[in-house]
Amino acid sequence: MNTLYYGDNLDVLCRHIADESVDLIYLDPPFKSNQNYNVLFQEQNGSRSAAQIKAFEDTWSWDQAAAMAYQEIVEAGGDISRTMQAFRTLLGENDMLAYLSMMAPRLIELHRVLAPTGSIYLHCDPTASAHLRLLMNAVFGAQEFRNEIIWYYKTGGMSNRWFGRKHDVLLFYSKTSSYKFFPQKVKSYLMHKYGFSNIEILEENGQYYTMVGMRDVWDIPALRGNQPEMLGYPTQKPETLLERIVKASSNKGDTILDPFCGCGTAIAVAQRLGRQWIGIDVTHLAITLIKHRLQGAFGTRVEYEVMGEPVDVASAKVLAKHDPWQFQLWALGLVNARPVKLKKGADKGIDGRLYFHDERESGKTKQVIFSVKAGNTGPAHVRDLRGVVEREKAAIGVLITMREPTNPMRREVASAGFYESGWGAGATTKHLKLQLLTVGELLSGKMVDMPPAQDVRTFKKAPKANKGPQDQQEELF
Ligand SMILES: C[S@@+](CC[C@H](N)C(=O)[O-])C[C@H]1O[C@@H](n2cnc3c(N)ncnc32)[C@H](O)[C@@H]1O
Repeated sequence: MNTLYYGDNLDVLCRHIADESVDLIYLDPPFKSNQNYNVLFQEQNGSRSAAQIKAFEDTWSWDQAAAMAYQEIVEAGGDISRTMQAFRTLLGENDMLAYLSMMAPRLIELHRVLAPTGSIYLHCDPTASAHLRLLMNAVFGAQEFRNEIIWYYKTGGMSNRWFGRKHDVLLFYSKTSSYKFFPQKVKSYLMHKYGFSNIEILEENGQYYTMVGMRDVWDIPALRGNQPEMLGYPTQKPETLLERIVKASSNKGDTILDPFCGCGTAIAVAQRLGRQWIGIDVTHLAITLIKHRLQGAFGTRVEYEVMGEPVDVASAKVLAKHDPWQFQLWALGLVNARPVKLKKGADKGIDGRLYFHDERESGKTKQVIFSVKAGNTGPAHVRDLRGVVEREKAAIGVLITMREPTNPMRREVASAGFYESGWGAGATTKHLKLQLLTVGELLSGKMVDMPPAQDVRTFKKAPKANKGPQDQQEELF
C-alpha cells in the first residue's frame, strides 16, 4: 500500500519498514548549506506571496544530540565506525561531523530495507558529496558504487570569485552486484542528417536527432519561477530527473522509498509510472503539499494511507504539546488553509488564511482568517478574532480549538452576525461571520461553513499527471 509518513525518518524506518522490502531509494536530504528554506505560497492573484514560512532548517551544529549519534555509531564498530572516527580526526567536532553523524544511522537503515536487487540514489551537492561518498562506501561497500551522476543546470547566480556552481551530485549505489538496471536512451540532436552511416536518424519538427545511451552527466533545467510544475516548495526537484532514476532502476509495481520526500517529486513520478511508493517527511507542510499534489495530478486515481498524523483528539494533543508549530500546520492543513508566519507588526492574531471568490462579476478576492488555539480558550479569543476580521476586512473568521467552546464563546459568535455571499441574480447564501471548530470536529470531517466557491486557492495546483515531463535534449553533435 502506498504510504505517506509524517515523522523523523530514522524512527519511521526502524519501526515501520521491513528488511529488504524496498526496490529503489531516492533521498535528497537537506544539504549542509546553512540555509533556512522558506515555503512560498500562491498569493490570491497568482503571484508569490511575501508571507514566507520556514519549512525546515538546514543548519547542523555539533551539539549533544550530534555527539550522542556519533558515539552510538562508533561504538557499533566495523567499517562505518572506522570511517566516522576518521572523519572526526580529519574534521574535528564541527558542523560537517554533526551532519555526517545524522546521516550515518539513516544510511544504515536504508541499507537494511533495500532489496538485494535494489539501488539507492543519494542526491547531494559539492559541499558534502566527497564526505558522503566515503560514508556510502562504508555502508554499501565501495564495490557497489555504480555512478556519480552530475545533474547540470544553468539557473541561479554567478560569482566573479570562482566558476559558476551549477551542478548537484547523485551517488548511485546498488545493494549487491545483481541489481536491476534498465539502460535509458535520450535524444541527441544533429546539425544535419548527412555523414552518419551507422545510426538511425529521426526527425521531429524539422530537427534531426538520434537516440543515444544515457551518460552520467544530465543536463536538465532546474525548476524556475512560474513553471507549472513548480509548487513553491524550496528545493523541489524536477520530475524529469526522478523519471530517469525510476525508469532506470525499477520495474512497474516495484516499491520506491523517499525518506526526505519534501513536496513529493519522487512520489508523484512513482505514481505516474505505476510503481508503489513510501514517502517520509518531518514537516506537516510537506505532507499537506503532497496530498494536494497527488489530488491535482491524479484526482481519485491514487490510493494511499497517511501514517503518523493525529487520528484522534488524544494524538492531536500529543502533537500540540510536543511541537505546537507542527500542530498548527497540521490543523490548518485539515481546512485547506495557508499558514501565516508572524512578521513584525503584520498579520497579528492570524495563524492561517484561505482565499475564495464568490462574486462572478467583480472577481473580488475574499478571505477567511484562522486562529488556532491548542490550550485554554475563552470569549476573549473570539473577541480578538472579531477584531482581526474587522481590521482585515475578512469575510469569515474561524477559531480552531482543542477544547469544546464554552457558552460565553458561543454567545460572542452569535453576536457577530453573518457574512452574506452574493452570487448575482438574487442567489445568496448566509454564513456565520465567526465560527468555532474543534479539532475533534475537524477530524470527523466538519469543514468551514463558507460560500460554495469554485475557486479556493491556497496551494498551487499540480499539473495533471498525463502530461509528464519530456526528456530534454542531451547534446549537440
Ligand atoms: C531537500 S528537501 C527534499 C525535496 C524533495 N526532493 C522534493 O523534490 O520536493 C528535504 C526534506 O527533508 C525533510 N527532512 C529533514 N530532516 C528529516 C528527517 N529527519 N526525517 C524526515 N524528513 C526530514 C525536510 O522537511 C525537507 O522536506
